[in-house]
Amino acid sequence: MPFPQERPRRTRQSDAWRRMVRETRLCADSFIYPMFVVPGRQVRHPVGSMPGIFQLSVDQAVLEARRAEEAGVPAVLLFAAPDHKDAAASAALDHQGLAAQAISAIKAACPKLLVWADVCLCGATDHGHCGHVTAQGAIDNDSSVATLAEVSLNYVRAGADAVAPSDMMDGRVGAIRARLDAAGFSTTPVIAYAAKYASSFYGPFREAAESAPAFGDRRSYQMDPANAREALREVLLDVGEGADMVMVKPAGPYLDVIRQVRDRVSVPVVAYQVSGEYSLIKAAAAQGWIDERAAVLETLTGIKRAGADLVISYFAVEVAQWLRT
Ligand code: PBG
Repeated sequence: MPFPQERPRRTRQSDAWRRMVRETRLCADSFIYPMFVVPGRQVRHPVGSMPGIFQLSVDQAVLEARRAEEAGVPAVLLFAAPDHKDAAASAALDHQGLAAQAISAIKAACPKLLVWADVCLCGATDHGHCGHVTAQGAIDNDSSVATLAEVSLNYVRAGADAVAPSDMMDGRVGAIRARLDAAGFSTTPVIAYAAKYASSFYGPFREAAESAPAFGDRRSYQMDPANAREALREVLLDVGEGADMVMVKPAGPYLDVIRQVRDRVSVPVVAYQVSGEYSLIKAAAAQGWIDERAAVLETLTGIKRAGADLVISYFAVEVAQWLRT
C-alpha cells in the first residue's frame, strides 16, 4: 500500500503524536557519570579540554557524587590520578591510596549511589601504560593481570560496588573474578571494557586522568578501530570469563559494534561516550555552531537506539537534570 495511502507523517504531526510513537527513550536510570579524583583538599581544577568537567579532591568528589545522586544518576565511575607513580602501580594497590580513599568517602556520604571503580594501571604507573612494561618495552600481559586482580580487590575492599577493568589485557576478567570470589566478594560485579578501541577520542581524558603513555601508544592492547568481528570475540571471551556487563568504547563511532554485541549476548551492554565525543560537542557549541542540548540528546539517543542498555557519559548529570524538568 504505497503513497498516497501510506503517509508516515500522520503520526509525526504534533508533539503528542511524536511522544507516543517514540521508540527510544532516555532515562536517568541508564546513565553513569565518570569523575576524576586528584590529591589535595578543596581542589576543583577545570579540565581545559573538557569544559564543565573538573579534577576533584576527595572532599569535592563527594559533593559532585551527591549532585549526581540528587539528579537521579544511579552510578558514578571513578578514576584516580595519584601523585605517586611507579613501575609497580603501588598507589592503586595501596589501601590508603587516592582511589581507595575516594571510594570509601563517596560510599560513606552516598551509600545508595553505586560506585564503579575503573581498574587500570595507567594512572598509577610512571610510564602511563595500562600494564607492566618489560625490559624490552613490551606490555607484559600475565603479570599485569595479576596486578589488576589485586587492584580490583583493593577497590572492592574500600567499598566499590563494581570494578570496571579498562586495560584490555587478555584474561583479566577471569582473574579478577577468581580473586574477588576467593576473598569473599562473589557478589561484586565485574563490568568489562570488552571492546575498547585504540581511539583518538581519548585525548581529553588523558589530560584529566594524567595517564598519557610516556612512550609508544596503546595499539598492542586496545583494539584496531577497523575490527568488528574481533569485538564480538572479545565480548564473548569476557562473558565466558564471568563479566556481568560488557562495554563498547568509544560509543558514537562504533554504533554498529554496539548493535552486534546487543544481538549476541544477554548481559547488559554498556557504551562509553568518551572524552573526545564530549569535547567535540562542547567545542562546537561554544562556537555557536550546534545547539548543545539537542546535539547531546541526539548522540545519546543514537547510542541507546544502537542497543546500549547503559551509557557512561560526561553529560550524565546534566541530562538527568534535563529529563526531570
Ligand atoms: C584508562 C582509560 C582511558 C579511558 C578510560 N579508561 C584512556 C585510555 O585508554 O587511554 C578513556 C575515557 C575517555 O576518553 O573518556 N585505561
